[in-house]
Amino acid sequence: DALEEKKEEVAVKAAGGAKLGLIFGLWYFNNVVFNIYNKKVLNVFPAPWLTSTLSLVAGSSIMAVLWATKLQKYTEVDGKFFKALAPVALFHVIGHVAATVSMSKVAVSFTHIIKSSEPVFNVALQALFLGQKFPAAVYLSLLPIVIGCSMAAVSELSFNAAGFWGAMISNLAFVVRGILSKEKLKDFPELGGINLYGWISILSLVYLLPFAILIEGPTWSSAWSTAVANIGRDKLLWWIFLQSVFYHLYNQVSYQALDSISALTFSIGNTMKRVVVIISSVIAFRNPILPMNAAGSAIAILGTFLYSQAKAAPEAQTDVQKKEA
Ligand code: 3PG
Repeated sequence: DALEEKKEEVAVKAAGGAKLGLIFGLWYFNNVVFNIYNKKVLNVFPAPWLTSTLSLVAGSSIMAVLWATKLQKYTEVDGKFFKALAPVALFHVIGHVAATVSMSKVAVSFTHIIKSSEPVFNVALQALFLGQKFPAAVYLSLLPIVIGCSMAAVSELSFNAAGFWGAMISNLAFVVRGILSKEKLKDFPELGGINLYGWISILSLVYLLPFAILIEGPTWSSAWSTAVANIGRDKLLWWIFLQSVFYHLYNQVSYQALDSISALTFSIGNTMKRVVVIISSVIAFRNPILPMNAAGSAIAILGTFLYSQAKAAPEAQTDVQKKEA
């Protein structure tokens, strides 16, 4: 019996591992497709506020269909939920637009290098505003991230101030989003990742639409005509469709992953995702890269792994302590 039980345990673990592997694979694949088509669109149709909005339109529509057809179970939500969600969605949409504006100005790889420095913002915000203390190893791991990103920034051939600051604002916004999610959304675990991200998407769209029209609306018509003249309407629509749908899919899968992995595993997974995106986009767009830029990028990424290790050490210890208690 003990043997049977052990066998069953192993089978359950293997199935869980396979499911997680599939989720990670889909997360990366969807993210690469999004990043490539998003940039293809922005290259010919530089309207990042509109393309960000369309990504959310796609997400909201996909959710409406999933709920209406009962392919995804709809869970009732109330005013308390929306009150908790409002600030989270706000920082989600700020991070999203800022990253898209960044990608409209610089190479996709550069946006993601700067975005790999998110841990620096995480530590700085938590230490400064929440009074949290970190082990020395965590602070030290930020050094290679800062040095690597600085090397990449000074040697980036596509460098542009708006592109750089867009990625930095996105970092700041996503760290605030993470802190707020932990604090405000802990009472709604029954919702699950897919429904939660669905609502984030819908609320983000409500926030973004008026600003997109106000800020960029007057340029849309002429930018559209130029883009259509350059690549044709069908191709443009198809690319926009792909970037929008895959934006939702990668986020949905990543929220689904969060249901079964720790925040730390998530952030390691997210760094690996950036490595995959950087390499794929450099290949897809044949971006010229200086040796110093490549070295800086590698140092920054190495720093994010050291950061994960340094953060994992005390957390693993507390887990053991918890189990022993
Ligand atoms: C976006 O448009 O929101 C960015 O691509 C975000 O990137 P991330 O999910 O890789 O941080």
